[in-house]
Amino acid sequence: MYNYTEEQKISMAKVEKSRQDRLKNLFPRMSAEEKDAVLKENHPDYIESAYENLKVGPNKGDKVLHELAALLQGKPRVDDLKIDLTHPDYDVDVLVIGGGGAGSSAAITAHAAGANVMMVTKLRIGDANTMMAEGGIQAADKENDSPAIHYLDAFGGGHFAAKHELLYKLVNEAPDAIKWLSDLGVMFDKDEKGNMITTHGGGTSRKRMHACKDYSGAEIMRTLRDEVLNRQIPVVDFTAAIEIIKDDKGQAAGAVLMNMETKEILVAKAKTVIIATGGAGRLHYQGFPTSNHYGATADGLVLAYRAGAKLLYEDTLQYHPTGAAEPTQIFGALVTEKVRSLGAQLVNRDGEAFVYSLETRDVTASTIIRECKKRDKGIKTTDGVGVWLDTPMIDLIGGEGTIEKRIPAMMRMFGKYGIDIRKEPILVYPTLHYQNGGIDITANGESGVKNLFVAGEAVGGIHGRNRLMGNSLLDIIVFGRNAGKYASERAKEVSVGKLTLSHVKEFEKELKSAGIVPEKVSPQILPDYRRKDM
Ligand code: FUM
Repeated sequence: MYNYTEEQKISMAKVEKSRQDRLKNLFPRMSAEEKDAVLKENHPDYIESAYENLKVGPNKGDKVLHELAALLQGKPRVDDLKIDLTHPDYDVDVLVIGGGGAGSSAAITAHAAGANVMMVTKLRIGDANTMMAEGGIQAADKENDSPAIHYLDAFGGGHFAAKHELLYKLVNEAPDAIKWLSDLGVMFDKDEKGNMITTHGGGTSRKRMHACKDYSGAEIMRTLRDEVLNRQIPVVDFTAAIEIIKDDKGQAAGAVLMNMETKEILVAKAKTVIIATGGAGRLHYQGFPTSNHYGATADGLVLAYRAGAKLLYEDTLQYHPTGAAEPTQIFGALVTEKVRSLGAQLVNRDGEAFVYSLETRDVTASTIIRECKKRDKGIKTTDGVGVWLDTPMIDLIGGEGTIEKRIPAMMRMFGKYGIDIRKEPILVYPTLHYQNGGIDITANGESGVKNLFVAGEAVGGIHGRNRLMGNSLLDIIVFGRNAGKYASERAKEVSVGKLTLSHVKEFEKELKSAGIVPEKVSPQILPDYRRKDM
C-alpha cells in the first residue's frame, strides 16, 4: 500500500464515495465557446511571458519559447573545430538522422527502394519517443469510418490549422500503414475472430485506435528495429549529428557527426538527408516534467534552422493531461489516454468530475490546470499538485480483468510503488508530451532546404496546433515511409557539389549583427540535470 498523506486519503475517500453517482451521470461535453475560454485562461501556450521573438534565421520575428530560442540562436558546436570536409568518413545515398520510429521507417523504405542508406543516432536505435508511446495508432479502416472522418476529427482537434496536404496524406495512408506494420510483424490487439480491437481517443468520433495493449510504441519499435537489423542497414549509434553539411549549390549534402563517448568528429556525405530526431520534451519548457525519452532535445530543429529551413507552429506544445503526479519516482511519466478511453474519469479533491473524459488533450489539460491553480481543487503531491484519475471505474464499466488485460503497463508502473490501479485512483497532472510544431515540409517530406527531408515529431503542421492521440505513431510511419521514398528517389538524380559549412559562418554573422551573444551551445544533444548550485 502506498504511503498517502492524510489529505490525500481524505480526498481519495471522497472519490470512492462519488464513484457510483459519476458512473451513472457522465460529465457533459463542452461547447466550442467553453473550450476556447478554458484554453485561453489556462493553457501554457497562452502564457505570453514564456515566449520571445526570434532575432535571426528563417523565422525571424516569430515567437518561440525561451528555451528553444536559446538553442535556435545558440553557438554552433562546429565553431571551434577544424573539420576536413574533403575526406568524408561515410559516403551514402541517404543519411537518416535519428533512431526512432520515423527514422527506422524512412531507412527501411529507402533501403527497399535500393538506396545505400545509413542511420546515425546519438543513443541507440529504439531510444526514442516511439518506444515510450502507449495508447495506440489511429487508422480509419473499419466499416463505419473513413479517412475523411478521420481528417475532420484531426482538423478540428488541431484548431483547423493543419496543413491540408500533410493531414490528407496522414489519414489516407493510415490504413496502409497499419497493414505495413502488421505485415512486418506488429502484434495488434485482436478479438477472438481476429478483428482488430479499436477504441476512442480524445476528440475521435469513431473507434479507430489500434493498440498493442498499452505497449503500442514498444511493439512497433521492436518490429521496426528488427527490420532495420534484418536488412543490415548500417546504424552508427552513440553518434550525434551536430551540423548539416551543404554543398556549394546550397543543397543538403550530409552531416557533421560527433561520437558521444570519444568526441571524435566524423563527416558523413550524402545525396539526401532525412532529419528524424523527434521532439523536445527534455527542454522542460515552462518548467514542466515530461513523458519524453532522454534524447528529446529539439536537435533536428536546430540543425535544420541553421541550414536555412523554416519552422512552422513552433510556438505550440502539447501538455498531455495525465502525467503521473505521484509517486515522485515516476513524476511526469505518461499515463496513457487509453485509461480514459476505457472509462476512468478525472476527479478533483472533492470527488467531483470536472471535464468530459475524452475532450481533446489541450482542453483536458487546461481544465486540470484550472482545477489546481484557479479553483484550488487540486490535491497536494510530493512534487506539486494533481487531480485524481479514477481508474477503478474501468473494471466497473468493462468488467473485472479489463485493466489487467488492456493496460498492463499502467498496472505495473504504479504497482511497483504499491498502488493497485484496479482498486485505487491515481494522481495526475499535465506533462510535456509533444511538439505540435516543427520543420515546415512539403507533401513529399522535403524542407525548405533542397535534399533535406524530415519525418516524425520534427515536422510541423501535420496536426495543426494540437494533436489527437494516436496520430503521432501514425505520422512517424506515414511520413517516415514518405521521406524514405522521396529521399531515395531524389538521391538517384543528385550530384553533390563541394561540401561546405559556410552557412554556419553566415548564421554566426547574423547572430553577431543582431547583438546576440549565445547563452547555449547547440544542438543540445542531451538534457542537463546537473544541480546549478554546485
Ligand atoms: O496517451 C497516450 O497513450 C499517448 C498517445 C499519443 O501521444 O499519441
